Amino acid sequence: MSVKTAVLVSGGGTNLQALIDASRAGKLPHVALSLVLSNRADAYALTRAREAGIPSAVCERAKGEPREAFEARMLEILRAHGVEMLVLAGFMAILSREFVQNYPDRILNVHPSLIPSFCGKGFYGLHVHEAALAYGVKVTGATVHLVNEIPDGGRILLQKAVEIEPGDTPEALQRRVMEQAEWILLPRAAEMVAQELEEKR
Ligand code: GAR
Repeated sequence: MSVKTAVLVSGGGTNLQALIDASRAGKLPHVALSLVLSNRADAYALTRAREAGIPSAVCERAKGEPREAFEARMLEILRAHGVEMLVLAGFMAILSREFVQNYPDRILNVHPSLIPSFCGKGFYGLHVHEAALAYGVKVTGATVHLVNEIPDGGRILLQKAVEIEPGDTPEALQRRVMEQAEWILLPRAAEMVAQELEEKR
C-alpha cells in the first residue's frame, strides 16, 4: 500500500503539477496523491487537482482566527482523509511545533533557494529570488527539506544549484529554479520519504 499523501498549496501549483505528472509517469510508486489542501479558495492549484481527479479541500484562516484553531481544522480534514505524509508545495503559512508533531519526519517542503541562504521568515515565493538578485549571488537553487518548528530549518533531503544569468529578473529566475530544480527534486524527495515510511510499516 502506498503512503497516503496530502499536497498543501496556496497558489499556482506548478509543484503540485510536477507531482501529478511524476505519478502518472509511474515515478511515485510509494506515493498516493490522496488530497490537495489549499489555504486559499482561489488557488489555481485547486483546478489542477480537479483536472487530475484528486480530492481537494479548502481551509482558509479567517481574519483574527488563532493559529491553533486554523490548524485544528486542517488536522481534522487531513485525518478524515487518512493522510500519512504532507508535501508543502508553495504553501504560504508557517506551521506550529504542535501541528508538526502530528507528522514527525513526514512533512516535506520545497524552498526556492539553497538553504541556509535566503530562507526563514519573510522569504517566500518571488521575494526569495528578489533577495538573491539584490545580494548579487552567482548561484542559487532549490532545497527540499523535512519540516520542523523552525521555518525552513528541518533536515535537508535534496538540493540542486541553478546559475544566475546576466539580466535575470526575479520572474525569470523563479521560472529557471522551478524548471531546473524544484520540479525535479520535489517528486524525487516525496518518493524517497514515502518509500522509507513504507519500509518501516
Ligand atoms: C515555489 O517556487 C516554491 O518553492 C515557493 O513558492 C513557489 C510556489 O509555486 N515556496 C516558498 O517560497 C515556501 N517558502 P507553485 O505554487 O507554482 O508550486
